[in-house]
Amino acid sequence: MSQELWAHVDDYVSKTVVRPDAALESAISATERAGMPPIAVSAPQGKLLALLATIVGAKQILEIGTLGGYSTIWMARALPPGGKLISLEVDPRHAEVARKNIAGAGVDHVAEVRVGAALDTLPDLQKEGAGPFDLSFVDADKVNIPAYFEWCVTLSRPGAVIVVDNVVRNGALADPASGDPAVQGVQALHAMIAGDNRVSATTIQTVGSKGYDGFTLAFVRV
Ligand SMILES: C[S@@+](CC[C@H](N)C(=O)[O-])C[C@H]1O[C@@H](n2cnc3c(N)ncnc32)[C@H](O)[C@@H]1O
Repeated sequence: MSQELWAHVDDYVSKTVVRPDAALESAISATERAGMPPIAVSAPQGKLLALLATIVGAKQILEIGTLGGYSTIWMARALPPGGKLISLEVDPRHAEVARKNIAGAGVDHVAEVRVGAALDTLPDLQKEGAGPFDLSFVDADKVNIPAYFEWCVTLSRPGAVIVVDNVVRNGALADPASGDPAVQGVQALHAMIAGDNRVSATTIQTVGSKGYDGFTLAFVRV
């Protein structure tokens, strides 16, 4: 079992059932050309987010961590007419590339990128009465994950779904001796969810083109 094999299978899945189109491929190339890191979700993961949006009948989606807008495009495309996606991004350069990619994919009328540290922009969303969100995707800095999760629960409707990416971190999630602040962030998330009756959650380990990692899927109880 190797990274090469996992990437090969992701490629197979992408070419068969997932089939990202030219706009999605071009969002990845433009992000790469802009010198931004290759840390967008994979095509199969993007499709999973779109499927989750469809399954929950999402009309309002919140994303924390835009990068070049790849996952944004996947989710925005799953919205019905009148739907809305708000994506929060700290880096203005990332936001600029994302906006171009989102426009290139023809979803700029539903997807909005807001610049600023998410812990500053999330209270703004609450003040302006944004949401309630049906699906939230947390994919930014890991240190602040517990705070992001708390905000997502606050801004969610009952029955909403929250996905938190990159929580397994090559297995370090289960290492209590880890001194890595990102690992400590995802461990704090798990400790928090374990004692939180507002949500029901699981964490799924994954392998693929992005390596060995995983995501937490939480349901906001009705
Ligand atoms: C993993 S990338 C997002 C990838 C994107 N969701 C995708 O799959 O296409 C993480 C992004 O979060 C942004 N970020 C990091 N810290 C942040 C913060 N405090 N507030 C908002 N965005 C942040 C980074 O600049 C980066 O663009």
